[in-house]
Amino acid sequence: MKDGLFITFEGADGCGKTTQITLLNEYFNKAGKKTLLTREPGAGILGAKIRELLLNYDGEVSPNCESFLFLADRAQHVEGMIKPALEEGTIVLCDRYTDSTLAYQGYGRELDMERIKYLNNLATSGLKPDLTIVFDVDIETSLSRVGGSKDRMESAGVDFFNRVRRGYLEIAKQEPDRVKIIDSSDTIENVHRKVIELVENL
Ligand code: TYD
Repeated sequence: MKDGLFITFEGADGCGKTTQITLLNEYFNKAGKKTLLTREPGAGILGAKIRELLLNYDGEVSPNCESFLFLADRAQHVEGMIKPALEEGTIVLCDRYTDSTLAYQGYGRELDMERIKYLNNLATSGLKPDLTIVFDVDIETSLSRVGGSKDRMESAGVDFFNRVRRGYLEIAKQEPDRVKIIDSSDTIENVHRKVIELVENL
């Protein structure tokens, strides 16, 4: 049983979600609410080591190995940080969660979706967000925001990112109550306003 609120931020690299999660965190803090602002991969000490492996390793990584590393990071994150925070009534804002694995490893790397759903469920003990916001922007804009120095995931190519983007839109169609899409080609202020509207509706 959880008392807090669990909100996840999703979208392709360079979609602007990190700016928006910071703004929402400030919004809650100004209202006197306790929050945990966290991210995947890479929260906690073990998470930071897994993140380093995932993003900076320059050898071949099989899609299955990549998936298991993201899932291992998630399992530790849920047990060690997210669940305890929710149990004490904190609002948890998480930059990427299970839908990233569905979009990137499922749609992007074209792994079996049902298997990823099963593994996500195993890694999280079934913990689902109350609200997931997908920040949608065309691939040209998102890759130009990422800029010149790309990590291993960001170097995956335009076709990969088009599949990831389509994947997120598909996920939102499948779970319309939980997953909401915001067009993030709009200004930072307008996108923030839309985020607040979604959160106030919760
Ligand atoms: P990060 O630098 O945190 O990117 P961003 O700021 O866009 O979130 O790198 C995380 C990368 O890992 C990003 O390219 C998405 C990818 N990723 C997956 O492929 N699967 C996952 O399950 C997660 C959590 C992230």
